[in-house]
Amino acid sequence: MSEAVPMLREALGNLKPRTALVLGSGLGGLTDALSDTQHFVFSELPGFPVGAVSGHEGSVVIGKLGETPVIVLSGRVHYYEKGDAAAMRVPLETLAALGIEELFLTNAAGSLSQDIPPGSVMLITDHINYSGMNPLIGETTDRRFTGMSQAYDPGLADAMRRAAHDLDIALAEGVYMWFSGPSFETPAEIRMARTLGADAVGMSTVPEVILARFLGLKVAAASVITNFGAGMSQGELGHEETKEMAPIGGRKLAAIVKRMIGEG
Ligand code: HPA
Repeated sequence: MSEAVPMLREALGNLKPRTALVLGSGLGGLTDALSDTQHFVFSELPGFPVGAVSGHEGSVVIGKLGETPVIVLSGRVHYYEKGDAAAMRVPLETLAALGIEELFLTNAAGSLSQDIPPGSVMLITDHINYSGMNPLIGETTDRRFTGMSQAYDPGLADAMRRAAHDLDIALAEGVYMWFSGPSFETPAEIRMARTLGADAVGMSTVPEVILARFLGLKVAAASVITNFGAGMSQGELGHEETKEMAPIGGRKLAAIVKRMIGEG
């Protein structure tokens, strides 16, 4: 177990958070809604991965959302940074060891549907792991055969739908397909992804969902749509667009999450 566990346990003191959040590209703004915060950068937490994607801070923030104590991982490390699908294993194991039961994952994603334009928020109801990678490769216990039939918790999904409805925020739903990145997809890959049943594509989240289920955490996940998939609109895709567009859907997602968790 990582030395980060006692460090964070001490920082938590009497706080006993059950809920943790992972904030993706350009979505770190939600941390502004937290009170009584304590910050730790990944590099000061033993065993935590250190990545380098601009727009990802890579820090752990302990605080309260409304009255609810939470732990927020602001920024993540991706498979494509070092070719390690289990890059987020220590942070997620640390959350589980600290008593976290529910994990909310967020990301920026490309849409495959004209009905889910940039600026939308999409509840992830299921995923397709198209990367060929799995964070449990190398795990030797039988727990590696983790069931994924209900990877995205139906109760948490319902809570997210209710929160969006209460706030009058449109919440799309769909299947997220994980591509390794870091290059974007080709138009042919996007057509393939649509044919295979995906509604959005992205470079994260799926390995974290697998690890979280392995660790017994309940999972909810949502994408902020920053662009249409390659070939669906004019111009070339790039990370600038992701960072520029993420805060638009990000504000909606932050409101939904605040309502769900902060007032729950
Ligand atoms: N593809 C993959 N990842 C992404 C995209 C995309 O179009 N947009 C934001 N993250």
